[in-house]
Amino acid sequence: MPAVVVLGAQWGDEGKGKATDQLGSETDYVVKFNGGNNAGHTVVVDGEHFALHLLPSGILSPGVVPVIGNGVVIDLEVLFREIDDLTARGVDASRLLVSSNAHVIAAYNRTMDRVVERFLGARKIGTTGRGIGPTYADKINRIGIRVQDLFDTDILTQKVAGALAQKNATLVKVYNRRAVPADEIVEDLLRYAERLRPMVADTSRVLNDALDAGRTVVFEAGQATMLDVDHGTYPFVTSSSATAGGVCTGSGIGPTRIDRVVGVAKAYTTRVGEGPFPTELHGEEGDWLREAGGEYGTTTGRPRRCGWYDSVVTRYSTRINGLTDLVLTKLDVLTGLEKIPVAVAYEVDGRRLDEMPDSQSDFHHARPVYEHLEGWEEDITGARALSDLPPAAQRYVTTLEEMSGTRISAVGVGAGREATIVRHALLP
Ligand code: GDP
Ligand code: IMO
Ligand code: MG
Repeated sequence: MPAVVVLGAQWGDEGKGKATDQLGSETDYVVKFNGGNNAGHTVVVDGEHFALHLLPSGILSPGVVPVIGNGVVIDLEVLFREIDDLTARGVDASRLLVSSNAHVIAAYNRTMDRVVERFLGARKIGTTGRGIGPTYADKINRIGIRVQDLFDTDILTQKVAGALAQKNATLVKVYNRRAVPADEIVEDLLRYAERLRPMVADTSRVLNDALDAGRTVVFEAGQATMLDVDHGTYPFVTSSSATAGGVCTGSGIGPTRIDRVVGVAKAYTTRVGEGPFPTELHGEEGDWLREAGGEYGTTTGRPRRCGWYDSVVTRYSTRINGLTDLVLTKLDVLTGLEKIPVAVAYEVDGRRLDEMPDSQSDFHHARPVYEHLEGWEEDITGARALSDLPPAAQRYVTTLEEMSGTRISAVGVGAGREATIVRHALLP
């Protein structure tokens, strides 16, 4: 022990990468347990920007062992490009371990992701187009390709042929695309097999042994609670378990081993892609937040939808994940506002709801009930303790803490590693 989980408490891009990176110097292992290269985490170290997609953010700290768990879906070309880019910039990625049970993204799944989105038209999800959903669908449908399959060409060929028997019929007859030859896919996947082989491990065993030996393991979620396939705004979600429960299935450790669950939330809210978002701002205020916060996707470059902080969402995240701590990020972005609205409840068809509605239709109709908190003018980027903040900013933090039902243990006041107020240590 200890095992600490870092996850998104909203719709993603809360600053999970920075939060994990900050634990780096005290961490022995950092584990990605869900998602794939739909994630995009920007970490700023000494003014240098790193954009991570498949590798967990803790990789930027020397000595940390990065682990890609069984719950991840891997695009091998992206993985090795990311490793090469980081290596060229002096980051040691040589200790990376990859679960033999993780699934790989085949080219037909990237194709399927894009053609299905086009087919859906106005009903599209707004996916990242990386093949994430179709690869998880194959996993659940028991026609997926796993890392271990790459080391047995006969098995790999059989599995690819089996998957394509279904996919090609759909691609040709429904989507009017060309059939994909199996040998093309097999050849593509085998391109990376030898480079991957030394990294492949029984990562469940490695992590359990590490916890037995008293090592510190950080589990870093991709995406976020509201994008979780079970607990998010289905169907406008990603296709994996981005919540605390996903740690266990996605890495092969038991729930009794987890000591802390840290939710990361922005001081306001953003969302990328389609789906309901009660506090979204459509006019000038939304544009102002987007520019002030630099809210453009790390993965797709899409402008993020922006809105006010929603305490109904963070209370829900507290419940779903059993949060022990919150990290509130990007407080600096709100500087200069006279009043800051924060949603405390929803109004749905004339009824007030203090908690997340369990009907998706109600959530689509939910209108935020706002409380207006006092803003501040002072530059807060140099604050390193809560008492360094102007009184109104302190009250913003403590009011959000009361509303959200979880203590706020750290507050981000800038993108750099150092730009953080720590109130309580995140590692036990
Ligand atoms: P992730 O996907 O949750 O890791 O978040 P992203 O990296 O996609 O988006 C968060 C963005 O906010 C990144 O560009 C970070 O560098 C930046 N960031 C994180 N924390 C802070 C903060 O406290 N203040 C400011 N201004 N930027 C931050
Ligand atoms: P990080 O880890 C924000 C969104 C997509 C889309 C939906 C489904 O950086 O927070 P997918 O390609 O996963 O099938 O798309 O999920 N989405 C994200 N939004 N941050 C992310 O990751 C996301 N990963 C997926 O925009 O709405
Ligand atoms: Mg991101």
